[in-house]
Amino acid sequence: MEQGEYSLSEREFARIKARVYAVAGISLSDAKRTLVVSRLSKIVRALRLPSFDAYVDYLERGGTAQDGQDFVNALTTNLTRFYREDHHFDHLRTHVANLMAERPRGPRLRIWSAGCSTGQEPYTIGMDLLGAFPELKRWDFRILATDIDTAVLAKAAGGVYPENELTGLSQERARAFERGGDGMIRIPAAVRELVSFKPLNLIGPWPMKGPFDAVFCRNVAIYFDKPTQGEVFGRFAKMMAPEGFLYIGHSENLGSGGDGFRLVGKTIYQSKEKLNRRAA
Ligand SMILES: C[S@@+](CC[C@H](N)C(=O)[O-])C[C@H]1O[C@@H](n2cnc3c(N)ncnc32)[C@H](O)[C@@H]1O
Repeated sequence: MEQGEYSLSEREFARIKARVYAVAGISLSDAKRTLVVSRLSKIVRALRLPSFDAYVDYLERGGTAQDGQDFVNALTTNLTRFYREDHHFDHLRTHVANLMAERPRGPRLRIWSAGCSTGQEPYTIGMDLLGAFPELKRWDFRILATDIDTAVLAKAAGGVYPENELTGLSQERARAFERGGDGMIRIPAAVRELVSFKPLNLIGPWPMKGPFDAVFCRNVAIYFDKPTQGEVFGRFAKMMAPEGFLYIGHSENLGSGGDGFRLVGKTIYQSKEKLNRRAA
């Protein structure tokens, strides 16, 4: 135990697990015990509460909305990077090229990054597509980027990252970022303007209508149990444009939520709903 950390009993851990599952669908394994102690101790101390039990009591008896949010923010895992699993972006480029051929006058293109963390995923989508197809600037092209964690969304909206986030990117990809000369890189305004960051809990209501030509929900459902994964992926099926694509993480599958999709590539699924090409 680090100095200033509280001890966590089995019962307290069980209560914390039950709460984060109920509010965020996140299934914490026993391996996350140390993480729970280190992340929540700071909050419990700041609230001047004597124990984790007192903290859960406090949350259950109506701590503020911010207290509830701080609890969730502390227990999410936000690991991400630019061009993560980059075969998805190659596939998306081909899909968008096909859509552009079908919609030559450039109507609407909608992409959803669900569980966007600090923004690297939606910004990669925007940078990659604008780089490949500059004419998209004249399209009604928007990227919706959502996450349950409001702290990562605030960082994402800033669009500023340490330069070492470019490690491993090709020179061509790295050139698309603006350098501040201060050790930081910035997302160009034309890309930032494409992306709307919004808080959204994937196990809560989804207020938007869609349809989305592509949905990225990568490395998010791994934190859910099987029934929750099936439910969330099943809901994506209803949000897809006909023949739109769903991209998921390398260790994920759609489970019971796969009825509306067919597998077309490595962790790439296509909506089974047919596009009426004459009407499109
Ligand atoms: C590991 S990151 C994945 C980021 C990005 N999609 C990628 O693959 O690089 C997982 C994200 O899922 C978010 N998340 C976890 N549970 C969620 C929920 N119930 N609703 C929305 N987002 C959630 C976390 O806050 C976290 O930012």
